[in-house]
Amino acid sequence: MPTNGNAGAALAAYGSRAGMETYVFCPEDTPEVNVREIALQGAKVWRVNGLINDCGKIVGEGKETMGWFDVSTLKEPYRIEGKKTMGLELAEQLGWDVPDVIFYPTGGGTGLIGMWKAFAELEAIGWLGARKPRMVAVQASGCAPIVKAYDDGVDHAELWENAHTIASGIRVPIAIGDFLILQAVRESGGFAIAVPDEEIAAAQERVPDREGQLLCPEGAATFAAYLRALDDGRVGKDERVVLFNCGNGLKYPMPPADAAIDRHQPIDWDALARA
Ligand SMILES: Cc1ncc(COP(=O)(O)O)c(C=O)c1O
Repeated sequence: MPTNGNAGAALAAYGSRAGMETYVFCPEDTPEVNVREIALQGAKVWRVNGLINDCGKIVGEGKETMGWFDVSTLKEPYRIEGKKTMGLELAEQLGWDVPDVIFYPTGGGTGLIGMWKAFAELEAIGWLGARKPRMVAVQASGCAPIVKAYDDGVDHAELWENAHTIASGIRVPIAIGDFLILQAVRESGGFAIAVPDEEIAAAQERVPDREGQLLCPEGAATFAAYLRALDDGRVGKDERVVLFNCGNGLKYPMPPADAAIDRHQPIDWDALARA
């Protein structure tokens, strides 16, 4: 599998549990914690001097020679079925109802496409009515092929050159399922939106501070996008909105917190209160 980190860790864990050998390729600047997690969970893992699409090419070429089963996004049917779980659990937890809007950090797009499939299937078996959430694809301004295709009104996205963002999980310059993401977004009456890294970083600091919820940068992008959408009126203040945080914030760098106390000195309680 080619991965920006998290999917590779999941594959390694499932593979090891099932007694299956896994080979994982990630961009060379993938956060250290992701690469170590993949290795520790039993996969063979390599850093590649390129982006996720370059890793994908290696997997494509190695398939024949090595006899691999290709687990790249949307090259097999199982991941999309698995990611439907996000839609199924959301509907279940809302008492078989759906929110008005869903903001999803979109890389390869399996999560967004999977949820949209889940809602259609739930309607087909009569567990949901016809009302569906507006699906919003959130990308980073430094890598926003889907947003560009959405804005241009086309069905396929072009390769995004020089892709860069702190939200490494959504740094996907070209997505094989681009047309499926765009179809779900348009059918649902949603939209695609890009946010700059500064707003992602600001959201990463603001949300845990107020909500007690540690966000990964990809999840923080959805909050930044939500603020923009509220501001420009694409989402109403009273609407029920779900923002997806797909990764644990503990895996990413955090600002230092290095205040200390010398227990041998008298404690300055006023200073504590002012901190
Ligand atoms: C934390 C995080 N959020 C979002 C995504 C994007 O997922 P998708 O492939 O469903 O677009 C990824 C992808 O690996 C990720 O690691």
